[in-house]
Amino acid sequence: MDTRNDSLRLGLLCLLASEPSDIHQHVMTLAHLAAQSSTVVELGTRTGVSTLALFLGGIGRAPTRGPDIGGGWNARSFALRTFDIADCWPDVDRNLHRLVSAYRETLGAHLYRYSGNGDDSWENEALGALRESFRRHVEVSQQDSVKAVASMLPGSVSMLFIDTTHTLEQTRAELEVWDERIAPLGMIVGHDSHHPDYGVREAVLAFAARNVERYYPPALHDWNNGLFILRRRS
Ligand SMILES: C[S@@+](CC[C@H](N)C(=O)[O-])C[C@H]1O[C@@H](n2cnc3c(N)ncnc32)[C@H](O)[C@@H]1O
Repeated sequence: MDTRNDSLRLGLLCLLASEPSDIHQHVMTLAHLAAQSSTVVELGTRTGVSTLALFLGGIGRAPTRGPDIGGGWNARSFALRTFDIADCWPDVDRNLHRLVSAYRETLGAHLYRYSGNGDDSWENEALGALRESFRRHVEVSQQDSVKAVASMLPGSVSMLFIDTTHTLEQTRAELEVWDERIAPLGMIVGHDSHHPDYGVREAVLAFAARNVERYYPPALHDWNNGLFILRRRS
């Protein structure tokens, strides 16, 4: 394992988690959960705060069989597909570029320029490889969250992350159609389960009550608009 890559990945996650947004306090949790998941699907991309968290967590998975494509970032088995009704790729690409630049100017500068070790060529190479890795591991698609279910095989999704309109009807529909795509021991995670204006919590509790034999009771984090985690029993 390349500890320098892991340190860089952690630095990028720290920056993402410390930039105030409606979801920044869940960045590390999303990264942690993605690191346990080989196939992640996200519904609701926008500018990609959660997309970047899932990506940076997922590429930290333990090495598995398969080709080591290079750069140290690509040696792991991980795929993320993110769906949004809008075309989000330009904003996500801009956000990744911005995060990498922020790293260079803050933590990277601290490590290389201010420590007396002026050689940041390794870091430059690794950050370049990271952007290449993003293109290899992440597919950003313009697609409705319910219709997108046709893109995945039954039982093929290790982690589903839901973050679209947050209405009761939409969340209910997303849970119902994606349920059979979840892999054994996989999980459904979603944002805004503690937002007072939304129906996410109600939809999740009703879904969990109907499927008590297949899913553990949901874990409900109540901060930063809320996050729920529903884990399949088998
Ligand atoms: C709260 S934002 C997502 C935030 C994103 N996860 C992040 O961390 O930056 C909600 C997104 O859901 C998208 N959306 C709304 N309805 C949708 C639908 N039916 N299918 C797919 N995406 C939808 C919106 O275009 C918007 O970009």
